[in-house]
Amino acid sequence: MNPKILLSTPHMGGNELKYIHQAFTDNWVAPLGANVNGFESDLEEYLGNGSHVAVTSAGTAALHLALVMLDIGPGDEVFCQSMTFAASANPIAYVGATPVFIDSEKDTWNICPEALQEALADRAKKGKLPKAVIIVHLYGMPAKMDELISVCNEYGVPMLEDAAEALGSTYKGVKCGTFGQMAILSFNGNKIITTSGGGALVTKDPLLKKKSIFLGTQARDAAAHYEHTHIGYNYRLSNISAGIGRGQMEVLDERVAARRRNQSFYANLFKDVDGIEVFTEPDEDFFSNHWLTSILVDPAKTGFTREDLRLRMLNKGIESRPLWKPMHMQPVFRGTDFFGSSVSEELFRDGLCMPSGSNLGAAEHERIAEAIQTMVPEVAWSPSV
Ligand SMILES: Cc1ncc(COP(=O)(O)O)c(C=O)c1O
Repeated sequence: MNPKILLSTPHMGGNELKYIHQAFTDNWVAPLGANVNGFESDLEEYLGNGSHVAVTSAGTAALHLALVMLDIGPGDEVFCQSMTFAASANPIAYVGATPVFIDSEKDTWNICPEALQEALADRAKKGKLPKAVIIVHLYGMPAKMDELISVCNEYGVPMLEDAAEALGSTYKGVKCGTFGQMAILSFNGNKIITTSGGGALVTKDPLLKKKSIFLGTQARDAAAHYEHTHIGYNYRLSNISAGIGRGQMEVLDERVAARRRNQSFYANLFKDVDGIEVFTEPDEDFFSNHWLTSILVDPAKTGFTREDLRLRMLNKGIESRPLWKPMHMQPVFRGTDFFGSSVSEELFRDGLCMPSGSNLGAAEHERIAEAIQTMVPEVAWSPSV
């Protein structure tokens, strides 16, 4: 029997073990060490644009540190893209602040500049602006950065970039993760590269990098004994995990190319299908790593829903998954303010993430195409004989 095809699985390059082995040889298994420094330099070089990077135990931890460093707490509001994974919003609750969710626009599925403008104008009128705006590059698709930067600058509100899914994506040639006052990356197991678990805080300010490392290593003041004037966190990445990251950085460009090949495969597969739209860059300013290729199913045209397709694929041993359920629809955030219309709700209703791992080859594409063909006979696919 064929193994299950999963949505997105880790894909090692081969050299990860070399770096881990070195950490064992040096007996530098404990946190920090050469791999942590090396991984940070690799990321700084890759991202460019004057980036300074501190690697953390998770992307969520990096976002928490960013909010702490902006001195956000109870009584403050933070605006956040509604259409995202819960980890974009949870740190707002960790610091005791109140999230306000903003709808998406239809081109990139990311935070809508007009809805953001409306929300900021509302809060300006009420006399208290949010302490930060969290924008996300969903599924690797860059958000509309020019418009968003201009709106945030107009109100003087710091922008935090959740680039957890977008390492390797660019907007007008500039890497995602280098636009915001601070940005975060994730190296969770399902991401474009992984350290089994891990993340990073990216900033152009070397002092913020230093401060995040200080806070993320239990906020120890300079003294021979243990002296603390701040609340600290245990958020640094281990030297072993960072070794995996160094090996993964060597193959990042290949991983981006493979994910983009998956997107082309789906775009071609569905090109003649009325009612199925494959998520694609709106124009050449946007370059997505296509971390997960997603489709929208219009049941009025296809005669089936995205859930029908998901179940059919599952029945054939192929995993797909509905898009992120917007945060303003989540029970845990019930009663939270929301600005926008129904774009994110409709995306959630009709959207499906397709298997997108960089380790999918021609055989897996064939299985996926054949499974879909049992429900959508007009897909552009002829079985090989
Ligand atoms: C959009 C988004 N934000 C934040 C995170 C959190 O990253 P981590 O799992 O490394 O904490 C993830 C992924 O897990 C994500 O997809």
